[in-house]
Amino acid sequence: MSQHAPLPPRNQRPWWRDAVTYQIYIRSFADSNGDGKGDVEGIRTRLPYLKELGVDAIWITPWYPSPQIDHGYDVADYMNIEPDYGTLADAERLIKESHEQGIRLLVDIVPNHSSDRHVWFQAALKAAPGSRERSRYHFVDGKGQDGELPPNNWTAVFGGPAWERVVEADGKPGQWYLHLFAVEQPDFNWDSKDVRDHFIEVLKFWLDRGVDGFRIDVAHGMVKAAGLPDIVQADTDSEMLSANTRPFWDQDGVHEIYREWRRILDSYPGDRMAVAEAWVSPASRIARYLRHDELANSFNFDFLSSPWESESLKRMINRSMEALEEVGAPSSWVFNNHDVVRSVDRFDLGLIAGAANTTLERQGDPFRLNLKRGTLRARAGALLMLALPGGAYVYQGEELALPEARDIPEDRLSDPRWAMSDHTDRGRDGCRVPLPWKTDAAGAFGFSSNPALKPDQAWLPQGHNWGERAVEAQLDDPSSTLTMYRRALAIRHEESGLGDGPMTWINAGHHVLAFERPGHFACYVNFGDAIQLPPHSHILISSAPIHDSVLPTDTAVWLRLA
Ligand code: NOJ
Repeated sequence: MSQHAPLPPRNQRPWWRDAVTYQIYIRSFADSNGDGKGDVEGIRTRLPYLKELGVDAIWITPWYPSPQIDHGYDVADYMNIEPDYGTLADAERLIKESHEQGIRLLVDIVPNHSSDRHVWFQAALKAAPGSRERSRYHFVDGKGQDGELPPNNWTAVFGGPAWERVVEADGKPGQWYLHLFAVEQPDFNWDSKDVRDHFIEVLKFWLDRGVDGFRIDVAHGMVKAAGLPDIVQADTDSEMLSANTRPFWDQDGVHEIYREWRRILDSYPGDRMAVAEAWVSPASRIARYLRHDELANSFNFDFLSSPWESESLKRMINRSMEALEEVGAPSSWVFNNHDVVRSVDRFDLGLIAGAANTTLERQGDPFRLNLKRGTLRARAGALLMLALPGGAYVYQGEELALPEARDIPEDRLSDPRWAMSDHTDRGRDGCRVPLPWKTDAAGAFGFSSNPALKPDQAWLPQGHNWGERAVEAQLDDPSSTLTMYRRALAIRHEESGLGDGPMTWINAGHHVLAFERPGHFACYVNFGDAIQLPPHSHILISSAPIHDSVLPTDTAVWLRLA
């Protein structure tokens, strides 16, 4: 059991214990200058939409200058804004105006690797083996007689070897450098004091500009095992995420970094925080990132990885709540992000997340796709997620029940996974297609301020029917998914028993997840045949219509118990 004091009332506890944070994939959110790519000003003009939606915070995916090989996760300069997205002044204005709307703002920090265009990496390429410039990355001599073999057997997450050989100043093949992701994303060496000091400077740079916190990319990867030993054969998914078989994930040394970062965050007023993107298993390993002197949140990827099955979801919920209780941390529920197949498709096709990496198995017959059933389930899942104790992360378009775009032509695919997998993995573009704001196709369904921009001229092409689930189509429709999210988030703010705090399971059969929260609030989610609801004084919200107190299949409801 936890040794922690009882939870103070919501208005006296850190905001991040309960927050609903909306993820903005900047390139696809809103395009203010008509170039077919989203930008900072586009976000600012949509702040009223976000305010009406009722989210507490936004997290903006990397907005820094970048060659965009991995759409911003290859950073060339951590203390500036990508010119395609705007200027530093635009960013400062956005931070200020978000705060005026009562919305906190998180930026994405990418400390595991930089772009190969970063000045440090360019300098390292020119410098000699053993130099200070090279020590900021992992430059290592190869094996074999002439160093012609990579230093170890590590493979890159996107496919292929994790090592690239460079040409030295004398024109001869020389050392190898490590890249756990694309070739253009060299891994930093966190043994280097320069690297550690640089990221402290980066944190302060953005904290000084008022950001409320950071989403930490590959938060479990910065520290590599000493000597860079070979990976060991893993028999289970969980082993593939573990420090024992993967000498680059979840090493103890990362915690020292977060303790230092926490001290920086705490030195600023107003509950600044950080959320870890750590694909680590089991939940007890996640909990280590959330100890009181480390990070605030960590995405609950076990939950995201669960198929649409009551028992599996219940197991994930219980395991993570037990583990986080040990360290007094809240859970951060999430069903969608820019790396995984959208829940509408996933829940319909029974797809599950591949634990070893950040993508999902994308097989499944697209023609079997039942958008209606997928949407029903995604809506029910949303009410489940928003009723559970803790905070939640919502990915742009989730509130519209956007499906995965499965029809992007191969010559338009831009995720580096596509090329690095030798064209066997279509990658993650399907969940990154620009948002439809309007039903009319002009300006790529209102994504762009340029009315002449056609849907297939946005940076990723939108399908011809992309406007069917546009914001405009859903705004005034009482039965739309957007209306459901707005209502659910409003109820979440009114109900003091929601957000962080206790929950008690109600036994309602194998195919039902049911639990009570303080204030006679109950959430029922039905995965099986229709059931009769328990006595209640009224229904607060449901994910599909309810008649005669019968909860249909794939439906969730929030009740005030009698
Ligand atoms: C995780 C990010 O979410 C993903 O989009 C990116 O490709 C990798 N980290 C590498 O930065």
